[in-house]
Amino acid sequence: MPGYKMELTPEQLDILNGKKGETMAKVMKTLVMYGETFGATKMVPVTSEKGHLVTSFGISVMKPVYELMDQLIAGGVVSKQKFSVDPRPLDKNVPANFLENLVFNKFMYSAQEKYDAQLEKVGLLSKSAYTCTCYLDEVGNTPKKGDVLSWAESSAVVYANSVLGARCNRNSGIIDIFGSIVGYVPYFGLLTDEGRKATWIVEVKTEKIPEAQVLGSAIGMKVMEDVPYVIGLDKWIGNTLDDNAKAYLKDFGAATASNGAVGLYHIDGLTPEAVESGKDLIAENAQVYVIDDKELERVKNNYPVIWKDKNATPKLCFIGCPHLTYSQLIEWTEKVEASLKKYGNKKVVIPTVFTAAPAVVEKFNKTPYAARLKATGVVLSYICPLMYMNNPLCGKKPVITNSNKLRTYTTSRYYTNAEILEQITKGAK
Ligand code: F3S
Repeated sequence: MPGYKMELTPEQLDILNGKKGETMAKVMKTLVMYGETFGATKMVPVTSEKGHLVTSFGISVMKPVYELMDQLIAGGVVSKQKFSVDPRPLDKNVPANFLENLVFNKFMYSAQEKYDAQLEKVGLLSKSAYTCTCYLDEVGNTPKKGDVLSWAESSAVVYANSVLGARCNRNSGIIDIFGSIVGYVPYFGLLTDEGRKATWIVEVKTEKIPEAQVLGSAIGMKVMEDVPYVIGLDKWIGNTLDDNAKAYLKDFGAATASNGAVGLYHIDGLTPEAVESGKDLIAENAQVYVIDDKELERVKNNYPVIWKDKNATPKLCFIGCPHLTYSQLIEWTEKVEASLKKYGNKKVVIPTVFTAAPAVVEKFNKTPYAARLKATGVVLSYICPLMYMNNPLCGKKPVITNSNKLRTYTTSRYYTNAEILEQITKGAK
C-alpha cells in the first residue's frame, strides 16, 4: 500500500481501507505507524487468548483515554480479546484522611466508575480482573510459551517474556488495547529471535541470596533496555520454576523493568528459553556485569531519599508492587506474626497495606490466614500503590516500601524485606 513500508496482508490492507469501519481503520493505522517507527517488517497475529491493559498513569493522561474509549464504543469497536487491566486506584480500606480522600474522589479518580463501564463494553475479562499480576493462576490470564501478546504493563511484559516465554514488546499504553482490538501487532524487537538474544552477561557472585528487588534494580540500571543473561542466580533460587522462584522473578523483573527498561531477561538453568538454548542465547561481543554483595550494597545506598524530613517516622508502608502472590501473602502473614511476637507487639506499628489481585485476595480471605493477618493490623487491598501516591497530598507523606518500582516513580523510600519487617513490627524499642 502506498505510504507504508512494511509488508501487509490483503486482510490487513482491507482493515486499513475501512472494510471493518472507520474506527477500526484508525486503530490499524496507528499500529502500523507505531511499528514503522521501530522498523517493523510486518504485522503478526496476536495469539494469546487474552490481553492486558496498562493504566498506571497519572490523572492528566487519563482524560484522553476516557475520550478514546467513548470513540471506540461509538464506533462499535469491541476488542477481539477479552483483557485484564491494571489495578484500580481506590479502596476505602487503605488509610487516607479526609482531604486526601477528597482529592482522590473529586479530582483524581472521579471518573473511575465511568471508566469501569467503558472497559466492560470494550472487553474487560471480569470485574475482578484488575491487577498487574494478570498472569497468576488465580487471575487466569497466563500466556503460553511462544504466544504473541499485545500488553504494555512493564512488570507483566517482562514476566510474560522471561518466565513464561511469551513474546511481547514493551509497548506503550493504548497500543496494548489497539493490538487486542485488531488482533495484530507489529513484528520487531522482542518478537523476533534476534531481538531475544542477550547482549549482556550478568554474573551473580554473591555470598547470600540477593534481594530480588535490588538485584533487578542493579541490572536494570546497567543494561537499560537490553536483554541480560543472568548466570549464578539458579544457585540461590533453584532450577525449577516453583512458586518461590516465580515470586522472586516477578519482583526481580519489575525492578529491571522500572529501574531500567528491561523487557526480557534469561536466567541460566531456570527460565524456559535459557533451559532450552542455554548460552546460545548470548549474542556475540556481549558485555559482562559482575554483581557481588558489595555492588548490591552500593546500588542500594545510592537510592535518593526525597522525603522533606529524611528522619521522619514513616506514616504508611506498602508491600505488594507488583501485587503479591498467594504464597507471598501467606509468607508475609507468618513473618509479621513472628516478628510482632519477637518484639512484644500486638499490631504493626506503622500502618501497613499489602496489595494483591482481587482473585488472590478472595482466595486468601477464604483461609484462616485472613483473620490472622487482620489481627496484626495489616490492611489487605487490591489497589495500585502508585496510583495512591499520585495523589499530591499522599505523595508528601513519608511512605516506605519494599518495591523498587514504587520507589522509582514516587517519593516513597525503599527498604529490603527484612528492614521493612523490622520497621513495621518493632517500633521505637
Ligand atoms: Fe502493579 Fe501498580 Fe506496582 S500496576 S507493579 S502495583 S505500580
